[in-house]
Amino acid sequence: MCGIVGVVGSKNSVTIIIDGLKKLEYRGYDSAGIALLENNQFRTVKEEGKIVQLEQALAQHKFSGEIAIGHTRWATHGAPSKENAHPHASSQVCVVHNGIIENHQELKAKLQKNGAQFLSETDTEVVPHLIEYHFAQTHDIKKSILAAAKEIHGTFALAVIFKGHQDLIAVAKRGSPLVLGMGKGENYVASDYYALSDHTNKIIALDDDEFALVLPNSVEVFDVEGKKVNKKVKTMEAEKNRVSKDGYDHFMLKEIYEQPRVLEETIQAYVDLSNSSIHLPNFGFDLKEINKITIVACGTSYYSGLCAKYLIEEIAGVEVEVDIASEFRYRSHPFRHDNLMIFVSQSGETADTLAALKYAKQNGQKILSIVNVAHSSMAQLSDAVIRTVAGPEIGVASTKAYTGQVAILSLFAVHLGVIKGKVDAKQKNILLQQLAESGLKMTHLFDQSKIKNIKKIAKSLTRARNLLYIGRGISQVTAFEAALKFRELSYINAQGIAAGELKHGTIALIDKKMPVVVIAPRNSQNDLFEKTLSNAQEVNARGGKIIFVSDREGIVQFGKMARKKIEIPKLDGVIQEAILPVISTQLLAYYVSLYKGNDVDQPRNLAKSVTVE
Ligand code: F6R
Repeated sequence: MCGIVGVVGSKNSVTIIIDGLKKLEYRGYDSAGIALLENNQFRTVKEEGKIVQLEQALAQHKFSGEIAIGHTRWATHGAPSKENAHPHASSQVCVVHNGIIENHQELKAKLQKNGAQFLSETDTEVVPHLIEYHFAQTHDIKKSILAAAKEIHGTFALAVIFKGHQDLIAVAKRGSPLVLGMGKGENYVASDYYALSDHTNKIIALDDDEFALVLPNSVEVFDVEGKKVNKKVKTMEAEKNRVSKDGYDHFMLKEIYEQPRVLEETIQAYVDLSNSSIHLPNFGFDLKEINKITIVACGTSYYSGLCAKYLIEEIAGVEVEVDIASEFRYRSHPFRHDNLMIFVSQSGETADTLAALKYAKQNGQKILSIVNVAHSSMAQLSDAVIRTVAGPEIGVASTKAYTGQVAILSLFAVHLGVIKGKVDAKQKNILLQQLAESGLKMTHLFDQSKIKNIKKIAKSLTRARNLLYIGRGISQVTAFEAALKFRELSYINAQGIAAGELKHGTIALIDKKMPVVVIAPRNSQNDLFEKTLSNAQEVNARGGKIIFVSDREGIVQFGKMARKKIEIPKLDGVIQEAILPVISTQLLAYYVSLYKGNDVDQPRNLAKSVTVE
């Protein structure tokens, strides 16, 4: 989503901002801008579209200011446009902002009465005017930031520059991530450390309601009362592989192919296969006392939570409820003391999931988070954290993070099953072997002949107007996730339906033009295959164009009824059913998007980390 980069004290300020913004591109945005302070004037350039357009516009200027702030905007208040792009300025103050100012209308009305003039439709534009208003009263930067922050309702990461202060960026944070980077004779600010990783690995992460004054040779951090806070400078690990597509055309394709490695590294990190032991981090609470689990997440992470419901209920026999994070806080919960809340998130920053986590914490719940970003806000607020071992995921559409989550949730299910006495040593060994074998089986999905077949099917789908995915049991969840991936990448309407639900309404959509992907793996331990076949027959009888996903025997059994077939390996057990078939559906979505000429790594309107509610 929106990104912030700032630098103070550098002769290369424009390059530092542009390079930093490029590193945040993967998060999704629709306009970008930069402001420098030069000869006590704000030099601002903004463009709708991509950073490359901003670079072209900048090429027409020769800026030499040593202090600059830049921003990538993902539109919330007001359309994507040059006017609405950040930075926004009043006469003396210039601001970039991530988050949402909830009371912006009220603040705007008040500031307008005071003579402020507004040029954009954004909520952000109130911020420079509000800070300027307080600065006019106090003539003190600290006091004006504090006073403005007190008046603002909502979330913000702010970077602010002031006319007359050639060597200072003021920053403030509430609810949106913000870090300070320590350089030599120059310092930086950013919404994500990664934007600064070429310049420094020394970082201070601000906490909510802290603000800071960043100068070329020093930084000072203050709390909400204006008292100085001593912050720890963290040394960050190098972010290997993050920038490279390793020869693949897109990050998404690279990340799809990385999934066997994700499984292997997950097992290396948490399992000793030689004695079938699982080594999850210490939870700080007793899992024996847990009799119910509530999983909360958004989007693809929500679907891995749904997979976990099947896995945990079947393997550990513990009841699981799964909630969409944006809904969780807005209904009543009879919170139980024997309930464990699990929050699943790739980024660990998704605003709805984070808010749900805080809400559960306030209600005394035990919190386990499963995140891919180690130092994320969710990780910091949880009682226990299990980190997925997917590595940085750059493609906006989640692929390997999903597999990493399902792998961890499978391990958690087995671990809980052992603690609850539902899984004996033999069973545990079998389940861990099934998980370990998934990686090898997955590599067969990338055989040239299989990819050729998926490409052919993808070509035939580029003109489809609608698509259905159906499945039963845990394959129903694969159908949901596959449909989400398909629509976000292809911009074609795709729905995932529980196959048995089809005849309760959705079957009305089936005609000779409707492609229906039937996810019908034959899982050796829980065979819903025959039942899925009956549902596929219902589609076939109405002329629907079936794309049948199953193993060789399954495909033979379904015979000629399928127009197209995607062969997957024969599966052993529910864990493999959760992990494997989804890979072929990721590839299908990828190739349809590619053939349609869509932006595969940054599909339109989407953001990698959704940091607004
Ligand atoms: C879809 C996708 C999103 C995310 C969702 C949650 O491909 O990536 O649906 O899964 O925005 O994000 P995280 O997992 O970062 O909380």
